[in-house]
Amino acid sequence: MMWRWQHWMVVLLVTVAAVSGNNYEGLAGHQIWSLESELAVELVDQLQAQGLLDVVAHTERTRTVRVTPEFASLVQKELHGAGHNYSVKVEDLAKHLQEKEKDEKTRQIHRAESCTATSCPFPLTYSYMTFQQMEWYLKELAKNPWVEVRSIGRSILDRDIWMVHIKSGECKGRKELYPNRCRRRASSKPMAVWLEGGIHAREWISPAVTLQLIHQITKDCCVTQDLDVYVVPMANPDGYVYSWTTDRFWRKNRRSNSGSTCDGVDLNRNWDYHFGVGASDEPCSQVYKGTKAFSEPETQALRDAMLQVASKGNLKLMIAFHSYGQVLMYPWGWTADKAPDQQDMVRLGKSFVMKAKSNYGTHYRVINAANDFYFASGSTDDWSKGVLKTKYVYTLELRDEGGHGFDLPATKILPNSMEVLAGLKAVFRKIISKKRTTNTVVL
Ligand code: ARG
Ligand code: ZN
Repeated sequence: MMWRWQHWMVVLLVTVAAVSGNNYEGLAGHQIWSLESELAVELVDQLQAQGLLDVVAHTERTRTVRVTPEFASLVQKELHGAGHNYSVKVEDLAKHLQEKEKDEKTRQIHRAESCTATSCPFPLTYSYMTFQQMEWYLKELAKNPWVEVRSIGRSILDRDIWMVHIKSGECKGRKELYPNRCRRRASSKPMAVWLEGGIHAREWISPAVTLQLIHQITKDCCVTQDLDVYVVPMANPDGYVYSWTTDRFWRKNRRSNSGSTCDGVDLNRNWDYHFGVGASDEPCSQVYKGTKAFSEPETQALRDAMLQVASKGNLKLMIAFHSYGQVLMYPWGWTADKAPDQQDMVRLGKSFVMKAKSNYGTHYRVINAANDFYFASGSTDDWSKGVLKTKYVYTLELRDEGGHGFDLPATKILPNSMEVLAGLKAVFRKIISKKRTTNTVVL
């Protein structure tokens, strides 16, 4: 894989600071180390599972890690003890970031405080939105009669988890926006799709893209004539807020783990499907699975809403948006075995990739989660496939390939969203036409 630490570091320097405020104070004394030996990979991953470091970039043979002052000497001892060398790429993360904060220009791109309910489309497109701005935006959005915005539950710190339902049906009331642009289709039972964004706090491009998708799809009734689109753009609001206020690289939710000084559960390890295989028991780990499956209110809310949608029997597609790496992954993540419908998932995935490439030439690869990425269980994708039996299930790692990593500049929100929209539309069309063929046969 092509996640290069050099690039990752450069961007880290350029963009993290840009968020303004003090969200990197918690990074004082943190260092970035690079391990270039294939032999070190296994040990590094073990240390991550123990919560001693944070892998921020990886290739098959290398790891770039963030080490806190607390564990630096311990990690060093472990590595040296096993004969592995590392190089220090960043001496003090907070200092580097503070220096860069002086870069007023970058800061402006990111600053979105001025957004109000009515002026939110601007930051929606050109800046990362704060959680509050997202809520303002969704409130505005709900004024469209064909859109329902509903809270499906509350986070552990009592923030709403919002689900947007862009309803299927004709272009009623939407005709002025897109007059006569799409043919009316057969009025058979519509299909449903589920899109999940923001389950990992630091992957800011995920909610940004899912919000932009909502924005675009809401305006385009051709997409939704035969489709019910359900989107949760921000599955982990507490973690997201924390990544703005305190720690830009926060991944998990904000559960305070009893008996540990480390907070947070990885919500993408907390789902009840082969829970625990390929996840950590250690609360300090970035991939801590929680005390039991669905121990977290966020995953409970997502589960219940998905069950409700799936109970109508027409949920055909689930995509969880993450970053980064530009890969479209199909299950399983918990085992190297083949999942049902693998061939179909690969085929449909390829049509996504083809269209996603056509705008800006961005290349996404269709890969298998466990075999080609890494083993991880308790994720939305495996649960969706294994329990809901959704036919098409993916985790999409958005831009980029490691150059900017989690800190993708806000200027990429729009292009990333547009290429994903193009890919998605191709996928939607395929799903709908497949269904109609089936219906013809059955009828
Ligand atoms: N970046 C995602 C994660 O680490 C990838 C999940 C892929 N799915 C899986 N079941 N392994 O959570
Ligand atoms: Zn993720």
